[in-house]
Amino acid sequence: MAAVEIAGFAERIRIDTQQAHNETENSVFVSELLEGKLTVEAHAELIAQSWFIYDALERIGRTYADDPIVGPVLSDDLLRIPALEADLEFLIGDDWRNRISPLPATEAYVQRLEQVAASSPEAFLAHHYLRYLGDLSGGQIIRRMLERAYGYQRDGLRFYIFDGIPKPKPFKDEYRAKLDAAPLDAAQQQAVIDEAILVYGLNRALFQDLAGNIDRYRVRA
Ligand code: HEM
Repeated sequence: MAAVEIAGFAERIRIDTQQAHNETENSVFVSELLEGKLTVEAHAELIAQSWFIYDALERIGRTYADDPIVGPVLSDDLLRIPALEADLEFLIGDDWRNRISPLPATEAYVQRLEQVAASSPEAFLAHHYLRYLGDLSGGQIIRRMLERAYGYQRDGLRFYIFDGIPKPKPFKDEYRAKLDAAPLDAAQQQAVIDEAILVYGLNRALFQDLAGNIDRYRVRA
């Protein structure tokens, strides 16, 4: 009898969250941005909201450095705050800190991260996986589309450029091997998947909040 190949945990997360990914991928805000239909202010607003999220993600990540579940996936090469700050300086100006504020969906996202930080490394793992593997996957497509639509080179696009990860594919393969090796029992594995689906929802809600202001951002014909 042929051996039945059992999918690893990384493959299971990918399959079990595929529907949530597809529902998140096609937002009006991101589609119009990538088609060049929105102003630079719209891109700046997306980067500003991302700054609040990664500020919490990376601050909480540091507290998990010695955790057996989360510790192995942490990598300085992933950290996005320096890139986000350089983009905000370029897109908004030196006084960007005084000119950005979180949308309600961003506040809810950060609140969820804080909640998870206090209680569950496996849920935090879902947050980490979703953002960074997403940035190294669809994020790279977004980078090329923004380049084409707005003529950015590196400035304004640094969030999508991982200087320490010249080739995303081997990095992502290694990340998935770490997910496979994470010391999680069945209930904890399910908790990762449940949280990942919830986090896709938080990202969808953010795109909806951004779309609420879309008229303000439309490029006038
Ligand atoms: C324009 C929007 C998007 C496009 C075109 C896109 C496209 C893709 C593609 C092609 C992959 C597969 C890459 C591979 O197999 O190596 C992927 C993976 C992924 N994307 Fe997206 N994506 C988008 C938006 C998002 C968003 C908004 C998120 C989360 C907030 C996200 C999270 C992920 C994750 C976590 C993976 C890795 C799945 C896995 O292999 O486990 N994506 N995306």
